[in-house]
Amino acid sequence: MYTRIRAMDLQAKVILILVAVIFPISFFLGLVQSKVLEPVLSEEVREVGVSFAQSLANQIDSHRLLLKADASAVITDRIQHLMYTQPSILRVDVIAKKPNDTHLSNIASNIEDQDNAPPVVEVLRDTVTTERTYEEGIPVWSILYPVSNGSEKANIHVLVSLRFVGAVQNTTLRINLIAALISTILLTLILSFFLKRAIENEKQLKVAQMSNEALSEKLQEIQQELIHTEKLAVMGQLTASFAHEIGTPLNAIGGHMQLLNSDLERVISPSLFGALSDRIKIITGQLRKIEDIVKGFLQNTKKPIAQQKSIVPVRELIERILALVLPTLQRHQISFGQEYAAVEDQVEVVPLEIEQVILNLVNNAIDSMKGRSVPNALWIKTYNDPARQTVTIEIKDTGTGITKENLKQIFKPFFTTKSAGEGHGLGLSICQQIAKAYGGDVLVDSDLGKGTRMKIQLPVKKAEGKSA
Ligand SMILES: Nc1ncnc2c1ncn2[C@@H]1O[C@H](COP(=O)(O)OP(=O)(O)O)[C@@H](O)[C@H]1O
Ligand SMILES: [Mg+2]
Repeated sequence: MYTRIRAMDLQAKVILILVAVIFPISFFLGLVQSKVLEPVLSEEVREVGVSFAQSLANQIDSHRLLLKADASAVITDRIQHLMYTQPSILRVDVIAKKPNDTHLSNIASNIEDQDNAPPVVEVLRDTVTTERTYEEGIPVWSILYPVSNGSEKANIHVLVSLRFVGAVQNTTLRINLIAALISTILLTLILSFFLKRAIENEKQLKVAQMSNEALSEKLQEIQQELIHTEKLAVMGQLTASFAHEIGTPLNAIGGHMQLLNSDLERVISPSLFGALSDRIKIITGQLRKIEDIVKGFLQNTKKPIAQQKSIVPVRELIERILALVLPTLQRHQISFGQEYAAVEDQVEVVPLEIEQVILNLVNNAIDSMKGRSVPNALWIKTYNDPARQTVTIEIKDTGTGITKENLKQIFKPFFTTKSAGEGHGLGLSICQQIAKAYGGDVLVDSDLGKGTRMKIQLPVKKAEGKSA
């Protein structure tokens, strides 16, 4: 459940929260309102009943209706007349003693055929009494109101329905819930208007994070490759010198074997020489094999062209590497600037190789700046040298710089000022080798304490059909 909520987008979460908060509150408010309203409304209803009884009593009083011979008919008429205006009054009776009767009975009523219904009291009251009760399941006020014409006494009995109080309560609750619904919708609309940007930002952030992850993966991959290339180069160099070292004694052995052969031919009998010479042939044959293997080694250490050359603008190569290293620059708080001034920046190379060179030089630059407190900056520029038909990629840093002593050494393999884990001292030598293989070069100038400028110079590849 929790993870499902986490996976929802922001807008859905907001709506969920609004609904979860607003609805219970409105429901509670509605309940409180109706509970507060109920006694007030109920009192209102009671007053309606009492005032009805009072106005009927006034009419009986002022016209002395109880004393009339047709009292029952006249009063019933009055009741019916009065009741038109009061729909909540269920029933009205006038209770009195009929002439010559000893018991109380309903002498007038809004309901016909009351003769059989017993009156609600046995003894006439002389004060107003009101009581909440139920009539056929409906909550009602039962009101008794005394009236008299001289010695003739009577009670007016009124039943007022409280049903509409319940209806009002229900309506209040319903209105509250509808209000909650409307306010949820309105709030959602308003919030989503404002949230749109936040949601967009969140999405962009996610995309950025993802591409960041992809980039750092790619960076690791290329760096891994770089280390691999360096290792291969080391192995190549080792094998080359190994092969060279083995080759010399092998040559010597071969030579001496030939001498031994001719010496033996002179000294011993031909039959014996024949047998020995066969042995010597086998030995020289095996020596040839060893020599071939060693030669094979030497050939293998020449760098194979693993990938196809293509014509690419150097800017494209630079930008591919930049995408990889920008996060690292940010992490080390190194500001970055670029200027592509080269008009002709096409080169014919194996892209990955030149990318490796650029990455190598940029990594060296970062190494020379990281951890320093001064404001650090890296610039990458390109420009042409029309005289030489070259395009130069210049990588400039504000790092430590290089001493005069070290400047003479940095292109030598295995020269490094870094600790064992950090540098193999092969980067620059490989970079120079690669550049030279394309008829270019890697050059350096450095100001100790101020920074270093590394330049990759490559011949421009003219587009087909254009005149030089
Ligand atoms: N941009 C630079 N700023 C300062 N020193 C540098 C820079 N580039 C190279 N160097 C020096 O040249 C040395 C050799 O560089 P490199 O061939 O890349 O080997 P590595 O970086 O593995 O040490 C480095 O150890 C460092 O002393
Ligand atoms: Mg390096």
